[in-house]
This record gives sequence, C-alpha cells and structure tokens, in this order.
Amino acid sequence: MCGIVGYLGDKDPKDVLLGGLKRLEYRGYDSAGVAIHDGTTFKRVRASGKLSALEEKLSNESFSGRIGIGHTRWATHGEPSERNAHPHKVGPVTLVHNGIIENFHEIKEDLKSRGAQLASDTDTELVAHLLNEEYQVTKDLRKAVERLIPLIRGAYSIVAVSEDQPNKLVAFKEGPPLVVGSSRKEVIIASDVQAILDHVQEVVYLEDDEVVEVDGTDVKFFSANGFPIRKESVKISWSADQMEKHGYKNFMLKEIFEQPRAVAAAIDPHIDLNNYRVALNRVGFGVDSVEKLDSLNFEDDLKNTIEKLSGIERIFIVACGTSFYAGMVGEYLLESFAEIPVEVDIASEFRYRDPVIPKNSLVIVVSQSGETADSLAVLRQVKELGALTLSICNVKRSSIDRESDGHLYMNAGVEIGVASTKAFVSTLSVFHLFSVFLGRVRGKLTEAQEQEYTQSLVAVPSLMESVLVYDNFFAEVAKTLKTFRGFLYMGRGVNYPIAMEGALKLKELAYMHAEGYAAGEMKHGPLALIDDRMIVMMMVPSDKHYEKSVSNLQEAKARGGVVISLGTGENTELKEMSEHYLSLPKAHWSVNPILEAIPVQLLAYHVADALGHDVDQPRNLAKSVTVE
Ligand code: AGP
Repeated sequence: MCGIVGYLGDKDPKDVLLGGLKRLEYRGYDSAGVAIHDGTTFKRVRASGKLSALEEKLSNESFSGRIGIGHTRWATHGEPSERNAHPHKVGPVTLVHNGIIENFHEIKEDLKSRGAQLASDTDTELVAHLLNEEYQVTKDLRKAVERLIPLIRGAYSIVAVSEDQPNKLVAFKEGPPLVVGSSRKEVIIASDVQAILDHVQEVVYLEDDEVVEVDGTDVKFFSANGFPIRKESVKISWSADQMEKHGYKNFMLKEIFEQPRAVAAAIDPHIDLNNYRVALNRVGFGVDSVEKLDSLNFEDDLKNTIEKLSGIERIFIVACGTSFYAGMVGEYLLESFAEIPVEVDIASEFRYRDPVIPKNSLVIVVSQSGETADSLAVLRQVKELGALTLSICNVKRSSIDRESDGHLYMNAGVEIGVASTKAFVSTLSVFHLFSVFLGRVRGKLTEAQEQEYTQSLVAVPSLMESVLVYDNFFAEVAKTLKTFRGFLYMGRGVNYPIAMEGALKLKELAYMHAEGYAAGEMKHGPLALIDDRMIVMMMVPSDKHYEKSVSNLQEAKARGGVVISLGTGENTELKEMSEHYLSLPKAHWSVNPILEAIPVQLLAYHVADALGHDVDQPRNLAKSVTVE
C-alpha cells in the first residue's frame, strides 16, 4: 500500500509529483505529502485526507528546485493525520516509505533510550532517524543507505534525499515494488509504472536488495552491499490513455463497461478461432526472466507447457479477496473439465498452516496487482517446497509474475477502481481456457468437447454486452435497495463464488452488511437472518442446480426475504417468485459466472453511489495490499 514518487529533472517537481501521486492514489488515500527543494532546503507540505487536500495546500506554493519526493499513504503505524503523513525528515535526511518495518518496536525503544525526539507515530520516521545517524557517519546518502539496510526488517520501498546533496535521490527496496524511468533530462522513481508513463516509456524494475542512486541524470544501480550492477530497461506496455475516465463518472463504472473487451483480450492470445482449439501462448515454464517471454518460439513453448502440465496430479489455487473468488470458480472448472483434484485457499491462511504439497503439484497464484504480500509469500514458500508454480496476473512484470515458473495474463488493461471488476472476469476466462487446455492434455476432453466449451467462451463478450443494460435498472432501484438492513447472496456450484464476490463488492463499496452463501447451507443457520428487511440475491441459471436453487429461493421468500433472482432467459417461475427477475442470456454453465458478475457489480456500484460514497476509493482500503 502507499504510493511513492521521486523526481529529479527539468520539469517542475510539484507538477510531476502531484501527477504521479494522482496515478498512485489507488494505493492509499489517508494522507499525502511532498518534500521539494526550494533552493536552500527540502520544504515539506503534507495534508491529511485525499490528495485533493494536498493539491489545495500546494496551489499557492512554488519551488525553485528541480528535485522532490512525494507520498500517498495507507496508514499502518499511526492514525491518518498530517503529523503522520510522509515525507518524514530528520536532520538533513528526508524520505518516503511504502511498507512496514517489522522491528519497529525494537528500533523505537533503542532510539528513545538514546534520546531521540519523535514527531510522529510512524515506523517510517524511525527509518529516517536511523538513516540520519548513518548519514552523519558517511556524509554520503547511498553509503548511509547501505549501512541502514541491515538495521531494518520488514517490507519496504524507500526514496530518500538529503539537504547536503540536493542533486541526489537514493531508493532501495525489500518487498514492495519500485520502478525507475529516465531520459537525458529527467529521472522518476515510483511505486509503479502508472506514475511514470506520462514522462518516459521505458523503466527499470528494481529487485529486492538493490539500491538506485540518481546523481543529476546519471542513474547507477548497486547491490545492497555496494557493488555496482547492470540493469536492463523494458518498454512499458500500458499507455497513459488507459488512465483516463473517458466520460464515465468514475473508473469503476468505466471498468465494468470495459469487461467484454477485457474477456476478449484475456482469451484472444490462446484460442485458434479457425478450429476453436486452445493453445496456451508462451507460458514460459522454466524461462529465467519474463522479459524473454515474447521472444519464445510458440511451438517449442507449447510443447514445454504440455510436458510440464502432463505430470501434474494436483492443483492448489491461492489468492486473496476477489482473486480468491475467481480461484473458487477455477476449482469447479478444473475439476469438471480436467478431472484433477483442486484445493483453493486464502493466501494469508495457506502460508501459515504448514501446507502439505505433494509431489507433482501445480500451485496457481492469482493476483491482479501481482504484488499482494500474502500471495507473493505463498509463491515463494511453495517454490521452496518444490511445487511448479503458475501465476495469473494483470500487472506484467509485477513481483508475482516475475517470480513464478509459468505465466498467464488477465490482459484486462489498467484497473484503477479499488474494487476489482474487469480483472475478475478476465481471470474467470483464463481459468476457463486453462481448464479446457488441461482437460485435453490429460485426455479428459474430446476434441468436440474442447471445441464446444471454447466456443461458449468466445461467445461471452457479446453476451456480456446484453447484461450491461442492467446498469439503468440498478441505477433506478438503488434508491430503494440502500434502505435495506442487509444483503444475502446465494448460489450453487460454479455460481456460489459469485455470491461471495457479490457480497464482497457490496461490503467494500456500500459499507453495508452482506453475506455470500452456498445456497445449500441456508438451512444450517443463515436462514435465521431473513426477514422483510433483507435482500436475497440468488444466482439461479438453468443448469444442473436449477431445481434445488429454486427450492432455496422459495424458502427465503417464505421467510419474507425480498428476492432478486438472476436466471436464464424468460423464466416465469422465477419472475413470480421474485421482486425483481433479471434475465441472463442462455450460455454454457461454465461461463454463467462471467455473466452473473456484471449484475452483482452494478448493484454494489449503484447502491454505493446512491449512498454518496467514493466508489473508486472506498474507505480504509487500498488496491495493492503489499503488507500483511
Ligand atoms: C477486490 O474488489 C478487492 N479490492 C480485493 O479483495 C483484491 O481482490 C485483493 O486485495 C487481491 O488483490 P490482487 O488480485 O491484486 O492480489
């Protein structure tokens, strides 16, 4: 969480830093701040609340210097307030930090015992104290950083400046990402490429235990113990245009409407439309760097992928939040199409429960950002345990992407809304085609079945368009829905994870109580929740669960629940039982979750909007969860 930017160049640092922070605001929005050189000193301006509060404060400020650092915060140590906002300054040293310092307590006690005066409650200020101490010894910022690194533990990426060396930026990381973009006239360091792509088109990804020193426009990379290293730059694949709202009220709504395109982009590289066969494109199992994926020979890589996957006897899918629910859908698809045992787990649980990973296991880690701390930790853990790993990420070259053995991409484009939408449906599509592919590799699907299932997936983007028309419906009913006490989402089989996802979307956006349940579990407790102040949203497509789901719906209705049902086509039975019946187009059972995702997103979006909430930046959340 938290977004950091550092700038040194010929432009006005205030503009570059604010522009960069705007692009990074999805990472945290509790407070923001900058430190910009004004000719004699680094002047700090900080504000509690969203970036707009800082912008307001800076509107009448100008700085003569050409160097500065900025930060947008998601609070860990210390409440969201101006005194806890970054940058933190001690002596001549000023820095911004993303992450958590785990030996916080130990450092704090030590500093206090030596008489340090603390001006905030943050772990970051402690790092500034330590860096200042080392700086007093070395009188060189990079050398001070080298001496600092062994003193701090945890996950961090840091950009620091010093009053005495006002032409220098030094950055280093262990955990959360940092990218460095440079041209002959400027250098910009940031938490991710979004903050950079207005200025340069190529970046260098800093690895853990690496340090970058920017001196003027001279950029040098070092290992943590001071050895110079060579780093290659890579082209940024996203464009600045993707970061615009294009007339939509906010990013989330735009991203909901981009979903048909996102699904098409996710499946397009892997499907031969002449014969509806799936051929996974450049998964790159065993390739030592993701930079080499594009240059792999398609046929050779496909052979390698088939060879690697044919030995697999068990699959684990591990992720957090919405990516976890996408993984749950993946479980149903993989077990059905590929007849392989699958376990799905939440990364923060999996990593601490001494997981048993049998030989010949594949661990799939799903992450839109590719930076989620728990998911990344699982990836590292299972690699140690000898599993083959495959990532499904949206952000290319993110940590999870770079560290996994094989790579599949959501291809959803930049997702800015904190609530994940298009990355979710892209992931469902990737799981669908991966399951079909594995089904063929394992000899569980005939060619005809492969073609049938693939055709169903290819048809999805245009079917999704017809579901998006429910936007108007939810805009209308949101005014009534927002007055209810709670929401219960239900589904069976592959539709059950959509109930979970629907409840998550409503909680995170509308801050209302919502639960997702397997419909068959209702009688085991949750039925007691139902009365006429409870909305019951039920996925009831015409699949093998239909009759049982209808019975569950009857039970909810009999207890006064106000029913919204999602079914297939014209369905008078469901219409009669429901306050609102939403008809979804006829589709194969395996793609129904993709279609159902849209109404549950629209419901949450419109209820939150009707309540006046900021849907792109829900309270207390951040998009990229880089701390535990
Ligand atoms: C989704 O709406 C959430 N904001 C959140 O649950 C998210 O899916 C989760 O933090 C995982 O993120 P990742 O996909 O980037 O790993």
